[in-house]
Amino acid sequence: MRRDVRILLLGEAQVGKTSLILSLVGEEFPEEVPARAEEITIPADVTPEKVPTHIVDYSESEQTDEELQDEIHKANVVCVVYDVSEEATIEKIRTKWIPLVNGRTGSGPRVPIILVGNKSDLRPGSSMEAVLPIMSQFPEIETCVECSAKHLRNISELFYYAQKAVLHPTAPLYDPETKQLTPKCAQALTRIFKLSDQDLDNSLSDEELNAFQKSCFGHPLAPQALEDVKRVVCKNVPGGVQDDRLTLDGFLFLNTLFIQRGRHETTWAILRRFGYSDMLELTTDYLFPPLHVPPGCSTELNHHGYQFVQQVFEKHDQDCDGALSLEELQNLFSVFPVAPWGPELPHTVRTDSGRLPLHGYLCQWTLVTYLDVQHCLEHLGYLGYPTLCEQESQAQAITVTREKRLDQEKGQTQRNVLMCKVVGAQGVGKSSFLQAFLGHSLGHHYMDGQTPCLFVSSKADLPEGVAPPGLSPAEFCRRHRLPAPALFSCQGPALLNTDIFTRLATMAAFPHLAHSELHHTSFWLRGMLIAVGAAVAAVLSFSLYRVLVKSR
Ligand code: GTP
Ligand code: MG
Repeated sequence: MRRDVRILLLGEAQVGKTSLILSLVGEEFPEEVPARAEEITIPADVTPEKVPTHIVDYSESEQTDEELQDEIHKANVVCVVYDVSEEATIEKIRTKWIPLVNGRTGSGPRVPIILVGNKSDLRPGSSMEAVLPIMSQFPEIETCVECSAKHLRNISELFYYAQKAVLHPTAPLYDPETKQLTPKCAQALTRIFKLSDQDLDNSLSDEELNAFQKSCFGHPLAPQALEDVKRVVCKNVPGGVQDDRLTLDGFLFLNTLFIQRGRHETTWAILRRFGYSDMLELTTDYLFPPLHVPPGCSTELNHHGYQFVQQVFEKHDQDCDGALSLEELQNLFSVFPVAPWGPELPHTVRTDSGRLPLHGYLCQWTLVTYLDVQHCLEHLGYLGYPTLCEQESQAQAITVTREKRLDQEKGQTQRNVLMCKVVGAQGVGKSSFLQAFLGHSLGHHYMDGQTPCLFVSSKADLPEGVAPPGLSPAEFCRRHRLPAPALFSCQGPALLNTDIFTRLATMAAFPHLAHSELHHTSFWLRGMLIAVGAAVAAVLSFSLYRVLVKSR
């Protein structure tokens, strides 16, 4: 929503533009007025919509055409003033003023216009008959208001309508010609409907409607109001209410009704609460809320985050088989502009014959949060996290961990997600090694001094080849005080041997042990380590459990 509003008054000479402005400010009719009032700014707290509002006068006798064009360019809304007692000033709206304001914009966004019929004290009837054809000719005319600067009638209303035309514009929401929601508005409201339909039955129960109302407006509907809403929909839309639940058609009709009754702010409140801008796009502020991740820290979903994504999973696991089929996953992503996880899923998490089990699904969230937290924030935004969980932003679903350096100093970590780097020459089988566990590889060097390192001899099923000249891997490890190479093979039964991964997780979780003991100890101290090893293994199974399971 805009942070300020600039209202420009235009119209023929002597229609009362300056008098209207000075009547508003002085709360009495000024008998004598200058040709042009000074620009005034009304502070936010005294305006109905709580935004600072600038009001700008125009006088043909004081301003050039260039100055006029410049003012039109700067205005957020234009009030075209006419004199209800002077038919000629009405005719000029059509022939002069509207073409002047919007004539050059072509098919681009038009400046909203309010028609203002002043001097209503001079005419007993209404000027509406003459004005209605103009209103239907120009869709940018938001509304028409008759007023009198002299009798102080409808003056503050006129400025309120002008303010509202800017803050809650009609054009993005509604097409007055077809009397329907614009396609973009219908699309946004459909997405909001899907997010609010918690049991995915394509309708909103009383409970869902109340939760929706609460997340948008801060309080549930009174039971009577709920019944009234359903009655109005029932009367107007066939199929708008089914089994006492509001359908999508009913929901869209309700919003059309708000707009047709001049209550745009209601529909705008819903759209903005779900992150939409005035152009009906999700805003960058909404999709990417600030989240500070200092160097050396990592990002993990916290219990709010896991709870939310698990609820989303359960909502879409329609057949309750504990896994999402392709179709169920597509449905989950129907509130995204494009599906974020595609055919590569089986290469990043464990899937089960084309279906994504809860564990794999949570692991994928874990992975995205760790590797690409901006995408994680964006995805949670598409899923409506801040609105549905009534939280300030998606950042509340994320924990930023302590710096790695501090973990190393203290010899312990609170992290639930740890990174293991796999390095090795081209073609040695790194990817196969990882694919065996369905992890994710990020290349770097093993000897950064702090990171525990394990050599994996892959393709161990093959006969040993002729050793190349130079150090053998085993000798290399011995000299560098690294653990002896671990043999590994992807050949053989599909049931994988997780020992090596368990070992890696231990090394990652207890880097100080891996280092101080494996790195710097003499041979006989290593004998000690084997004894310590039993204790480590016990803690280790707990730690692995933490890595793989607790993340649920
Ligand atoms: P320009 O500055 O020449 O463009 O005119 P303007 O549109 O600013 O009109 P202005 O406020 O100067 O008013 C023109 C005349 O209309 C003055 O004599 C006002 O007193 C009179 N007038 C303004 N508003 C009303 C009204 O509501 N009723 C009546 N009866 N007279 C009004
Ligand atoms: Mg004037």
